[in-house]
Amino acid sequence: MSSELRYDDKVAIVTGSGGGLGRSHALLLASRGAKVVVNDLGGDMAGREAGGSARPADKVVEEIKAAGGDAVANYDSVLDGDKIVQTALDTWGKVDILINNAGILRDITFHNMTEDDWDQIYNVHVKGAFKITHAAWPHMREQEYGRVIFTASSAGIYGNFGQANYSMAKLAVFGFAQTLALEGEKKNIRVNTIAPFAGSRMTETILDKQMVEALNPAFVSPLVTYLCHEEVPVNGGLFEVGGGWMAQLRWERTKGALIPLSNGISLEDVKSNWGKVVDFTKTDHPKDVMGGFQIIGPNLQTLKG
Ligand SMILES: NC(=O)c1ccc[n+]([C@@H]2O[C@H](COP(=O)([O-])OP(=O)(O)OC[C@H]3O[C@@H](n4cnc5c(N)ncnc54)[C@H](O)[C@@H]3O)[C@@H](O)[C@H]2O)c1
Repeated sequence: MSSELRYDDKVAIVTGSGGGLGRSHALLLASRGAKVVVNDLGGDMAGREAGGSARPADKVVEEIKAAGGDAVANYDSVLDGDKIVQTALDTWGKVDILINNAGILRDITFHNMTEDDWDQIYNVHVKGAFKITHAAWPHMREQEYGRVIFTASSAGIYGNFGQANYSMAKLAVFGFAQTLALEGEKKNIRVNTIAPFAGSRMTETILDKQMVEALNPAFVSPLVTYLCHEEVPVNGGLFEVGGGWMAQLRWERTKGALIPLSNGISLEDVKSNWGKVVDFTKTDHPKDVMGGFQIIGPNLQTLKG
């Protein structure tokens, strides 16, 4: 039995933690010693009644305190992320862990989607994550310590009918996280992304009772909390997690076709090389931007010659 993973003296912010996954992350972190800012504006699922109620955040703070933990409520929108970070600074003087979890849904097929449906999803998931992370980042750099989580979705990774706006936002935060993972590395800031499956108010209308039980948010929080630990063994990872299952994802690329540049490249060259372009029998798993450039090395040599 390994020794218990602890978060004593760590200050965590969990956005949107008045319910669902965020509440579960906050409870677990607090039970292991972290001091937690429970942020939630208490709005409806579509973000139309923003600022609805302080109760969800207060209730989670009460739960944490009743269990002997330490927490403070914050009711600001993630779009005012600096105020949420300020709550952590005013209460405990620092921020070590940030879990970007707040989210809303505006599911509708693309041909019926309004610009407002697009903008509101972008605002909460992407701009909100930017605002709070941007406010926390200088403090993490200064103290040379930070653990940041972004919440993506399989809808962003694979696409999902009726979720063009949500898919856009969920894959956007993954790209955002990948660059932060690179920029934060030297300052001991680790940034990882999850794509969870959970029974919450977001999904309980489309899942049956048994599925909601199997997809208890409590089955997602241990991975998320591990990714926030001092000894986390990964930076820039993407993980699918839910229902007791967890797995890392990575990009896979075919060996592709390298067409000599001497005569230019024609449309017919593309057609005749198509088999190679889409052949996944042998593959690479590129990890960075340079990985794409290295492969065209032989063509660069011919041009030089
Ligand atoms: N449940 C799933 O299966 C699933 C799947 C993929 C991704 N996610 C993502 O996980 C996260 C949590 O979702 P959930 O399923 O727990 O849903 P949820 O609706 O229970 O939780 C989201 C919380 O965010 C809060 N919130 C919304 N807008 C906010 C804002 N502007 N500022 C602060 N708080 C705000 C809400 O009040 C709510 O409490 C979301 O980002 C969601 O997109 C969930």
